[in-house]
Amino acid sequence: MVGSDPLFEDWEAHWRRLVEAREAQASAFRDPAYWDRRARSFNAATSGRKDGFLELLEPWLAPDRTLIDVGAGAGRYAAPLADRLDWVTAVEPSQGMRDLIPPRENMTVIASGWELAEAAPADLVICCHVLYGAADARRFIEKLEASARHRVFIQLRFGQLRTPADPLWEEMMGTPRARQPAFGDLWNLLLQMGIQADVAVLRYQSFQVWKDEQEFLDEYRPPLASVWDEAKGRAWMDANLVREADGSLVFGRAESSSGVAHWQPPA
Ligand SMILES: C[S@@+](CC[C@H](N)C(=O)[O-])C[C@H]1O[C@@H](n2cnc3c(N)ncnc32)[C@H](O)[C@@H]1O
Repeated sequence: MVGSDPLFEDWEAHWRRLVEAREAQASAFRDPAYWDRRARSFNAATSGRKDGFLELLEPWLAPDRTLIDVGAGAGRYAAPLADRLDWVTAVEPSQGMRDLIPPRENMTVIASGWELAEAAPADLVICCHVLYGAADARRFIEKLEASARHRVFIQLRFGQLRTPADPLWEEMMGTPRARQPAFGDLWNLLLQMGIQADVAVLRYQSFQVWKDEQEFLDEYRPPLASVWDEAKGRAWMDANLVREADGSLVFGRAESSSGVAHWQPPA
């Protein structure tokens, strides 16, 4: 089918092109070291977020079931899910993120990326906001599927990243940042892989927050080190960050939406 119709895209190759174009512009945002520095502010922005994902999982939760959370981040899903399940395996390559995962007696944390992780299969596998930087998305998804007995869930944004990373990069470089893969790209790729998923739409309020200027600069100066211009950086911060009374800085308060593709893997 791929290649015979000029209107038909090879979605696997399309995904790889998106990731590689972005990576060619700036690869530091993919590094676990970036996530180490971003862990605290990411957790501050997302730990209290009510996005409806846990409610979506409800019909599949049971005290005798197990789950793998791929790219568990600071554990905003893994920890509450451990309270509802027999066992949770959280796979997370960033030490900074792992340090923030609330400990649970029935949770194993694997310190690696999914590509190299050796996790025993589980009933449920979830992967939320992780695939954006995976060039070989097909292989990543095939491993998710091979590791799940009952259900796979993949969550990705419909739109683009809503942090200062892209606008700050554009400010320093004077050129548009290549886009990330988004949920629509995932949907097409899943169809190409022969996966007929159900889809849920999550709408939620999102924002980014840093406790002070130093925390903001510690997050964004290092990945932009080779192009960072202090005057431009300060001007961008003055124009785009809201300074709260307690000294914290807030960016991008708005409604966001994500899609969740979920399906029963073949036996
Ligand atoms: C945007 S955060 C999402 C964290 C969590 N799933 C959530 O929704 O709160 C992305 C996470 O994926 C992790 N990550 C990046 N590449 C990964 C990979 N190849 N395998 C597993 N996790 C990865 C990062 O370290 C980071 O913690």
